[in-house]
Amino acid sequence: MVRQRILSGIQPTGNLHLGNYLGAIRNWIDLQQEYDAFLFMADLHAITVPHDPRRLAADTYKVAATYIACGIDPARATIFVQSHLSAHAELAWLFNCLTPLNWLERMIQFKEKAVKQGENVSIGLLDYPVLQAADILLYEPDLVPVGEDQKQHLELTRDIANRLNFQYGSQESPLLKVPEPLIREAGARVMSLSDGTRKMSKSDPSEQSRIDLSDPPEVIIKKIKRAKTDQERGLWFDDPARPECHNLLNLYMLLSQQSKAAVAAECASMGWGQFKPRLGEAMVTALAPIQTRLAELMGDRTYLEGILRQGREKAASVANVTLTRVKDALGYSRPL
Ligand code: TRP
Repeated sequence: MVRQRILSGIQPTGNLHLGNYLGAIRNWIDLQQEYDAFLFMADLHAITVPHDPRRLAADTYKVAATYIACGIDPARATIFVQSHLSAHAELAWLFNCLTPLNWLERMIQFKEKAVKQGENVSIGLLDYPVLQAADILLYEPDLVPVGEDQKQHLELTRDIANRLNFQYGSQESPLLKVPEPLIREAGARVMSLSDGTRKMSKSDPSEQSRIDLSDPPEVIIKKIKRAKTDQERGLWFDDPARPECHNLLNLYMLLSQQSKAAVAAECASMGWGQFKPRLGEAMVTALAPIQTRLAELMGDRTYLEGILRQGREKAASVANVTLTRVKDALGYSRPL
């Protein structure tokens, strides 16, 4: 039987953090057993906000190494760099010309990011979800695992696919496969250490708000010690009045691989002074093997390049078929 396909990606900007691991990558690790996984570094998306050209390539390699260090198996999954395949930008252009502008002006993430950028809003920032639609539709995935914040982009992807199918496809042979989103449940969401109501994020100016996957043990311990808490005695899950308490317990649960009930019982009568060192230790222990593997991989550029070359070839063999089909349907001549 043919395995169903999943596709997802992360933007290589800055270091990956605990939220990327527990929220996204760990999910992919489970999914790669059952699904044909296509996982990429969205480096074309990385320049939709001002970026540092001296870091782009290194950051992209580091994300690839991080995928593998966390447990993505390059023998099972296809790992590739978005910009290494021209099909992404090319299909995005075709989609651009067929997507109504007002579909993009509605995007919540654009509105939020545009406010932050002030004067400096590029067309790319507005166009970001169209490129994402191209990323996805090129590979005809069955499922696209993403966080809650990407839900609207997935709906846009489906809208674009349906629109092209309607305008240029036929009943018997749809032009594009319409994928389903696989939205992570809220429990997998890792929140900021400085504000339990906000997502842990690369773009938060405060380093203290997140744990980078490459933070050394002493930094991890210090960040946990300084993490925002409250004045209550005892620790419990799911109290909307205690978002930080919920987040830190949730992190402890995920990192120590215990059930929620076990953690709730263990921590019910603890104070922060007792809990925080435990959380810090669980985090250091869970990240240690990933950090060791990451250091090894970062020292073996040839190996990484081989993986990415192989990934690109496999990805191209799928992407180019879809791109040609779309170009044919739009009436383009084929290069001779
Ligand atoms: N926009 C996604 C994010 O910020 C990254 C991304 C780009 C992506 N292209 C994609 C995710 C295609 C899934 C599928 O998380």
